[in-house]
Parts: sequence; C-alpha cells; structure tokens
Amino acid sequence: MSNQIKFTLSESDLPKRWYNINADMPVPPNPVLHPGTMEPVTPDFLSVLFPMELILQEISTDQYIDIPEEVRDVYKLYRPTPLLRAARLEKALGTPAHIYYKYEGVSPVGSHKPNTAIAQAFYNKAAGTKALTTETGAGQWGSALAFAGQLFDIAVEVFMVKVSYQQKPYRRILMETYGAEVFASPTDRTQYGKSVVAADKDNPGSLGIAISEAVEAAATSNGAKKYSLGSVLGHVLMHQTVIGEEALMQMDLAGEYPDVVIGCIGGGSNFSGIAYPFLRHNLKDGKKTRLLAVEPHAAPSLTKGVFAFDYGDTAKMAPIVKMFTLGHSFVPAPIHAGGLRYHGMAPSLCALYDAGYVEAIAVPQVATFDAAVQFARAEGIVPAPESAHAIRAAIDEALDAKQKGDKRVILFNLSGHGHFDLAAYEAYLGGKLQDFAYPAEQVKAAQADLPDVKVPV
Ligand SMILES: Cc1ncc(COP(=O)(O)O)c(C=O)c1O
Repeated sequence: MSNQIKFTLSESDLPKRWYNINADMPVPPNPVLHPGTMEPVTPDFLSVLFPMELILQEISTDQYIDIPEEVRDVYKLYRPTPLLRAARLEKALGTPAHIYYKYEGVSPVGSHKPNTAIAQAFYNKAAGTKALTTETGAGQWGSALAFAGQLFDIAVEVFMVKVSYQQKPYRRILMETYGAEVFASPTDRTQYGKSVVAADKDNPGSLGIAISEAVEAAATSNGAKKYSLGSVLGHVLMHQTVIGEEALMQMDLAGEYPDVVIGCIGGGSNFSGIAYPFLRHNLKDGKKTRLLAVEPHAAPSLTKGVFAFDYGDTAKMAPIVKMFTLGHSFVPAPIHAGGLRYHGMAPSLCALYDAGYVEAIAVPQVATFDAAVQFARAEGIVPAPESAHAIRAAIDEALDAKQKGDKRVILFNLSGHGHFDLAAYEAYLGGKLQDFAYPAEQVKAAQADLPDVKVPV
C-alpha cells in the first residue's frame, strides 16, 4: 500500500457504456402503473413526458447501453472524476480502516447530477424537444439540467422547493446564469400548485409537490415541453453508473477492493451509480462487498417506509411504482439536505433492499453536520449536506473497524460540494441546527392514503 492519495484516470479511460441493473436483477421487476387507470403504463402514456429513447432505456434488459459520443464529449469537461484516499481523516480517526471517496463535486455544477442531465438533454434534443420542465430540491439537479439544457439548446423551467429557494438563493442565481427560469414551488403557475397554496399558504414545498407541478406543466403544454426527472427512474440510475465503473478501475489502481460501498439516498441515483457496478461483481463473481445506503431521519423511506405501490408525486399525476414509501402526501421536515426530502425511493433499489442485497441506515441532521465538518477539517472539501450523510456512515464504519481492529476498506460517494450550502454550515457552527424527531403520526396518516392497487405481484 503506497502513500498515494489521488487515483486518476485519463479521458481515454472514460467508460463507453452504462451498466443496466435490469439485466442482472436477482428479483423480478414490479409493474409500473398508470396513476389514473392503475393498469400497467404504456409507452404512449410515458411519451407525453419523455422522449422514446429514454422510455426504451427504462425497460431495456440489455446489460450495457452505449454512451453516445456527444454525451461522452460533454462528460470530458469533468470526467473521469478523481478517487481519493482520505488519509488525513483516517489519521484523525485513528482507524486501521482505509477510506476512499469518489468525488463528483468536480462537475461544473458541483455534483453527480450532470451525469444524467447531459444524457437526458442529449436524447431530448435528438427527439426535437425544445423545452424541459423539472423540479429541484437543494438546487443541484436544477443547476445540472439548466447547464445541460444550455449546452443542447433546450429551454429549462425549474420548480424549486420553496424552503430551498429561500435557504439557497445562490443556487437559483446559478440556474438563471445558465439561462433557466426558476419558480418557488408551490407556485401559482399550475392548478396543483394553486390548490396546495389555497390549503396552506405557508406550505414549505416538497420534492413530491414540485414534481407534480413540473409534470403538470409538461403534460398540459400540448407537446411543447417534456419533463425531466433527476433521480428515481431506472434510466437515471443507469446514467449514474459511470461513477461506479470508474471507481472499479480506480480501486484497482489503488490495489484494493472495497468491503463496503456507501452513498446517501434521496431518490437513489448517486448511491446506485456507485454501488450497482460493485453489485454486479457480488452477483456474478462472488464478491461480498456490503452496499450501504444512508438516508436522513427526517425522510427515512427505506428504514421506516412500507414496501407498497404508491404515486411518485404528491398530486398523483406521476406513475405508481412499488417502492418503500412514507406516503406520497408526506412532507418531510425542512432539513438542509433538500435533495433527500423525498417520500419514496427508486424501485430497483427498493427491491434490492427488500431482498437483502443492500443495507440502509438513517442518520440525524446534527450528527451529519458533525461528520461534514470533521471531513472538511481533515480533507479540505466542504461537502453538500446530502453527501454528508454518506460521510457520517463512512466515519462510523471506520470507528467500528477501529474498535474491532479491522482493516476495513471503505469507499463512499462524495456526491457534491457544499459551496452553496454555507448558510446551513453557519447554522451548525452557530449551534442553531436542530434534529427533527421522526414524525410517526404524520407518516402513519400519509401511509393511510396509499392507492388501492390490485396487481398480481
Ligand atoms: C449533492 C447531492 N447528493 C445526493 C442527492 C440525492 O439524490 P440521489 O439519491 O438521486 O443521488 C442530491 C439531490 O439533490 C444532491 O444534490
């Protein structure tokens, strides 16, 4: 083991294919249902929202899908991203564990989100799309799509969760700098947004509500606009596997193989992106890497949700999928990790968690920032609050390894930097950050409202 810190690949190593978990799923898929009829969706229904190429990717069972050259060309602005050994953090913790992290914050917008935004903009452009609508929580996804839309000459409309819009004005300005239009959701631009404000004028918004608004804006545009989602869907997770494919090569350069791979989960895309290529080796080559997903106490879909059919959005306009859900009407507390405030989770990840291929834990907000600050002071990078969830778990793994005298190899995905989240750090440093108790009653009420689906599963 050398003292090497940074494991970098050259542009020629940039993966040429995404990995499609559908090909290797050890459990059968569940149908995706139309929100009105509750019958399996048809490509026709989906084509109102998405270009056909992405719909085909969603249902493809090919093990790999070629990354178009035009997409690889844009990826080259920031990919391959570096993999680093957190040697100073290891020292600070006094752990025998080796901690590695894949750093996606080097993308132009500061997170992993462009990996799919660029691909989605490319396929939309190829299909003749002129405008895209989307939602954003913390603003990372909205910035990514605003950037990608600009590169492929597509107008972008972003419904930004109101609490994040207020907490993170600079993210809005970044999106506007890339040429996007940004609205604080719930807005008065959609029927659904108006109904939410009429019922509760102080509604802080949620990803579920913002998704409903963005879907409505596209669905009622008479074909002028398509909709783009930054997580949850199969094709989104697949585009993110470029992270794990690079990480496999970089762990090879480091001469080690991870015992545990860790990522935070909002809708599941950055975690799946790094973890699924390692899962392939578990499934095919007898590797035994643990895959650990980390969610916030405030929106603990995997650890506290029920595995049931539910709507992807609050207004019941998005398809119904089988997932671990807190209930589509659940509005999580306004934690600073806005990108993790979602009631559900990617269906493939849920099925893998249910069958025991993936582990999950939930962590509270203050302990997450303790880890973020410890990491920043050791390694220099100020992480996004979302990514800090993965850091919390990585540090806890390293401390557990220390207690057991175990030379564990830990790899986590540092999905983004927190340069636009300094208000959250200010609150933490000023002792003003709070934990939110798990809202059991609120979740129970939301879960009572699940659709009554009769599908043979
Ligand atoms: C930096 C960062 N990490 C993680 C997430 C969570 O999303 P996902 O689970 O799709 O990776 C987000 C979402 O906005 C994010 O901005």
